[in-house]
Amino acid sequence: MVVIKTQNEIESMRRGGKILAGIMEEIGEKIAPGINTLELDKLAERLVFDNGGKPAFKGYGEKNNPYPATICASINNEVVHGIPSEKIIIREGDLVKIDIGMEYKGMITDMARTFPVGTVSLEAHKLVKATQEALNQGIAKIRAGAKLSEYSEAVESYVRTFGFSVIRDLVGHGVGKILHEDPQIPNYRWNVKDIILKEGMTLALEPMINEGKFRIKLGADGWTYITDDGKLSAHFEDTVLVKKGGCEILTRK
Ligand code: MF3
Ligand code: CO
Repeated sequence: MVVIKTQNEIESMRRGGKILAGIMEEIGEKIAPGINTLELDKLAERLVFDNGGKPAFKGYGEKNNPYPATICASINNEVVHGIPSEKIIIREGDLVKIDIGMEYKGMITDMARTFPVGTVSLEAHKLVKATQEALNQGIAKIRAGAKLSEYSEAVESYVRTFGFSVIRDLVGHGVGKILHEDPQIPNYRWNVKDIILKEGMTLALEPMINEGKFRIKLGADGWTYITDDGKLSAHFEDTVLVKKGGCEILTRK
């Protein structure tokens, strides 16, 4: 069942989302050769608490292997859910994906960005631009009365023009009191369990796009997904509010 948010809940997500966008900006400014991803996580966690929020990812998942950090930091062929570590040091030319969720006044917003470090390859640059634009093209379809599949089709058809591929094993989701609410939101046109979008739904839209083939696999830590062919992957995510005639992007300033 897809939850419709109340005005109060929406206001919390609006304020939380703006704060989260500011936190992401600060993390982005710190990303440079030589910094390790645990330092980024510590910064993120401090900023979340300083702003009156709580990390939404920490402790998520199975009891025997809960997600241990505030952010996910995934580099190059790592797709998503990379666990921050002192041993993972950012280098010139990397594609660094940062994903962060924050609970604020009981409501969660969720966002991700891909940061190129210094000068990256032309192909990497194209992949990042295409993924960001694919999310924008998808967002342009979100309005009360639209079909969810309009989003999925917009993302996939845009990405295809570049020869990149859309990951199928992972999808976007509704978000609110909990991190993963209905509906599931594929970024490709197959198997979309279609629904009609309604005013007051809040959705985390998150295309994950591969330079090569769409297949991914789970790493030994039980969290980090990597591309099967070892090529690059990019990820952008925003939390949006469905409205009449369009949507409001809650995780941008
Ligand atoms: N944005 C991701 C998602 O919605 C991040 C989740 S990390 C997790 O799945 F640890 F919370 F799973
Ligand atoms: Co998400």
